[in-house]
Parts: sequence; C-alpha cells; structure tokens
Amino acid sequence: MPMIHHHISALRAAIQPYRAAQRIALVPTMGNLHDGHLELVNIAKQHADIVVVSIFVNPTQFGVGEDFDSYPRTLDEDVAKLATVGADYVFAPNIDEMYPVLPPPTTVRAGAITEQLCGKTRPTHFDGVGIVVSKLFNIVQPNVAIFGQKDYQQLAIIKQLVRDLSYSIEIIGAPIVRAADGLALSSRNQYLSESERQTAPILQQELQYLAKRIGGNHQPLDVLLAASRQRITSAGFVIDYLDIKTAQLDSLKTDGSSVNFNENQQDLVILVAAWLGRARLLDNQLVTANTV
Ligand code: PAF
Repeated sequence: MPMIHHHISALRAAIQPYRAAQRIALVPTMGNLHDGHLELVNIAKQHADIVVVSIFVNPTQFGVGEDFDSYPRTLDEDVAKLATVGADYVFAPNIDEMYPVLPPPTTVRAGAITEQLCGKTRPTHFDGVGIVVSKLFNIVQPNVAIFGQKDYQQLAIIKQLVRDLSYSIEIIGAPIVRAADGLALSSRNQYLSESERQTAPILQQELQYLAKRIGGNHQPLDVLLAASRQRITSAGFVIDYLDIKTAQLDSLKTDGSSVNFNENQQDLVILVAAWLGRARLLDNQLVTANTV
C-alpha cells in the first residue's frame, strides 16, 4: 500500500532521503481515480523510481456555482487502486494545509493562453490550477510530473509555467485513456445518466470525423466545424466550444480556409467542451499530416 501523508512537512521528510540517488515523479490528481489516472502512474513509474500521487480537490480552480461541493471524494478507494499500480506515496492534504489563507493573495496567472477555450467560460479556473500546481511542484520537487492530454489546454499552460518559472521538472503528457466505445475517461462521466452515457461517445466520433476531413478534401474549416456543431447539438449536447487550433494553441484562420498538409502545415488540434446533462465533457484530437 502507498504511504499516505496529509501534511507537507511529513511528505517532504519521507521523500527527502530518495533525492540524492533516485528520481521522483509527481502525478497530480483531484482523486476519484479511474483507469486514466492509473495509467498516469504507470507512465510515472517508467520515468522515476518513486511515485507520489497527490489527491486534492482544489477549491481555487472551481468557479462560483461549479461542482466543488459535490465533486466525488473517495480517498480510501483511491488508495486501494493506487496500491494495484505500485504508487509509493499519496499526498492528501486538507484545504488549510494547502491554503493557510483562502483565497490566497498570491496568484499564478498564465496570461493569454488562459483566456481562450475553457478559460472563456471558466475565467478563474486556470489561475487556480496555476497556483495549486506551483505549490505541488514546490512541495514535492519532483524530477518529472505526468498530466493527461485530455486536459490539453491545462497541459499547455503547465508547460508554459515550467518554462517561465524555471522549474527543473520534466513534464510528460499522457495519451487519453478511453472507454471501449471511445468516451474519454473522466471523473465527471459519473454525472451522466444511462442514456446520456450512450450518447456521450458521439463527441469523440465527431472529432475523428473532423480529423479525417481536415486537410483531406480541402473543405473550409468553418463549414466543417459548423456542420459538426450542428450534429453535436442535435444529439443533445450544449456546446461550450468546438475549435481547431495549432498544436501550440495559436489561433487558426478558419473562415473560408482549408488546410493543406503538403504545404508545411503545422500540426493541429481539434478541441471540444460540451455539456451533456450535468456533465461537462472535454476531448481533443491531434491532427498531423499522417492523420489525414
Ligand atoms: O487535472 C486535474 O485533475 C487538476 O486540474 C490538477 C492538475 C490535479 C490540479 O488540481
């Protein structure tokens, strides 16, 4: 079983002896672990000797009216799952331990990259992610940290944070883990009713459909996106965004424009966030010259 620590000082003391000769990995989570999280631990074990998994439902990344209070907290089950994949330490602090003052007067803001996509409807979300991830990095001081690619924008922001704040931490993006029917695994999938769960894979099917057509038949991107939005909405989703960006999340001209991967076209990513009932689902698909 992994050792559980609830206090920063105890965790630091426990992992200090490893620092000289062994590599430490951090897998930050908010708990309620599923196979996607366990895969992050598997990847962490390939890159480090000691794996620390943090479990903390971070209040600063939830906006007013969001699901902070109802977010599932399942520490005992999580620890049992982590034992099956050989995590070494669980860091499960309470709110006071992480935030002596809440909200913290110190902020970690990542600028323009946070103002698009999820940041448009969740304007304070990435500030909360920025401060909690910075704190976890300072507490654990890992050699490597693993984040899921499902949260594509979050991963890009964390890479920027590491670059700009000179953290000496390797960031690894882990491929999205999907259910057999294609739905990206997420703790929030449990908010779906049975019939919504049947509908949910449509999001990924639509991303795959778009990925094949972008650059394939040279239809303008805005036409492809509009048709896709129409189908997703008709299936019962309320779309937050469906967009195509460069892989670095720079904007792309979509109006009347098509993509030609034969002309030095850079890699692209299609990103979607959509509500289905109570669940806000996220997914994305990279599009490279090989995909089309
Ligand atoms: O992706 C998540 O689960 C959270 O945003 C993270 C990175 C653990 C920070 O709270």
